[in-house]
Amino acid sequence: MTTISLSKASPAKTRTDALIVGVVSTDDGPRVAPGGEDVSSAFGRSFDRTLTALGVKGKAGEVSKLAGADATKADVVVLVGLGPADELTAESLRRAVGAAVRGLAGTTSIAIAVPADSVERIGAIAEGVLLGGYVYDRYLTGDNPAPVGEVTLLTGMARDKGAKAAVERAQAVCEAVNAARGWVNTPPVDLTPVTFADDIVSRAKGTSVKVSVLDERQLESKGYGGIMGVGRGSSNPPRLVTMTYKPRKPVAHLSLVGKGITFDSGGLSLKPGAAMYTMKCDMAGAAAVVAATFAIAELGLPIQVTTYAALAENMPSGSASRPGDVLTMYGGKTVEVLNTDAEGRLVLADAITTACAQQPDLLVDVATLTGACVIALGHRTAGIMANDGELQRSVHASAESAGELMWPLPLPEEMKEAVRGSKVADLAQIQTDKAGGTLYAGAFLREFVGNGVPWAHLDIAGTAFNSGSPYGYTPTGGTGSAVRTLVQIATERAGG
Ligand code: BES
Ligand code: MN
Ligand code: ZN
Repeated sequence: MTTISLSKASPAKTRTDALIVGVVSTDDGPRVAPGGEDVSSAFGRSFDRTLTALGVKGKAGEVSKLAGADATKADVVVLVGLGPADELTAESLRRAVGAAVRGLAGTTSIAIAVPADSVERIGAIAEGVLLGGYVYDRYLTGDNPAPVGEVTLLTGMARDKGAKAAVERAQAVCEAVNAARGWVNTPPVDLTPVTFADDIVSRAKGTSVKVSVLDERQLESKGYGGIMGVGRGSSNPPRLVTMTYKPRKPVAHLSLVGKGITFDSGGLSLKPGAAMYTMKCDMAGAAAVVAATFAIAELGLPIQVTTYAALAENMPSGSASRPGDVLTMYGGKTVEVLNTDAEGRLVLADAITTACAQQPDLLVDVATLTGACVIALGHRTAGIMANDGELQRSVHASAESAGELMWPLPLPEEMKEAVRGSKVADLAQIQTDKAGGTLYAGAFLREFVGNGVPWAHLDIAGTAFNSGSPYGYTPTGGTGSAVRTLVQIATERAGG
């Protein structure tokens, strides 16, 4: 466990294993950022020149280590680039601190001297520590470095109540992000719909979240044709998990829905090998909504939350759904299956219909839904679609203030015609061409949003899983995408 405390102590006089100091880039070269001044002077007047000589530029994400030696009471001084002095944001601090801490696995104590002069910045720094320090070592049998132990954030605001609250909030939020990462990283042989549901049930014990689970027999008899249609090809049967958090006087009701395909082989429309090997991440939407729900409850936000995780494994077999099959979804609409690899929209449709029956004030679904979204927005930006422009803008604003890159995409009118274009069923699961695949999927989901419920859809296909090198506070593997945005949305709806 990593603990974070606030202190007014002087950085150069703080006894620690590693001292993180910010460096900004300016027109006159690299400079130690506010908060680290006394480290700079402890090293002597020529420290700015030393930085230049070391090749330190203050570029965002740059990490260099110096012996702390006689100048400070730290064994090592970690210089972390914050980027241009006049462009410093909470997110650039979060990333820089994340990058610095990521390189300090196994370090017992860390002190941090970067600009920590507002509640927002202190929260972001704490998040950088907790997200950057994440390691997934469940299956590593060697001697693994212990997680970073004690972290002291050096700030003049150490006694500020808001600052302390920001650190506590960061703890709850990052615990959730890291839980989502852990679920995504778990190999699909060990994270099946059944074990995932069991894990959610056991984690809810002792919290204010109530959980109920529908098994395959109940799903069948209640008419969950989408979830059953996807799950029937696998020997790991599907589940629908419902979580409810109901504080005493809720000011609003938020509903969350997550795509939980524990492995997406494509089904009979089998994926080629190269497209399949990251598909354990296909339950990242479910992981995000579940983890966010726990965080919202832990924070005690005065907002009612009902969360649905639609869990199934998409596998080919003699009992799998076929292209050409027609599924009767929960609520009665029929869908012509045309490609069994477009399974996400089928499980989500059942859950969205279920969620809307309760008439929440807002419904947000999260899904690794379309490869087309990765093509459109890349690996670091998620897509936002909605049935209301104002809502779409407000979700975008929430993402931005949480430090997550998301971007609005449209649900154009012609897509409505296209999704209703099947000759044999109410809806066609996919379109005949590939153009705008993300928008088509969004338009398909919109058909299941009932009762006039305001709805937003987050496509995290690109952002849920990082197959490349780590950067900032983002590790390789599961990223915990959308968790922070969901908690931010809930925080705002709860009135602050
Ligand atoms: N899980 C995939 C989408 C995906 C792709 C997630 C890449 C993460 C990274 C989804 O189930 C899928 O296979 N979608 C198909 C839909 C198509 C058949 C209409 C796709 O995008 O190719
Ligand atoms: Mn698929
Ligand atoms: Zn999928």
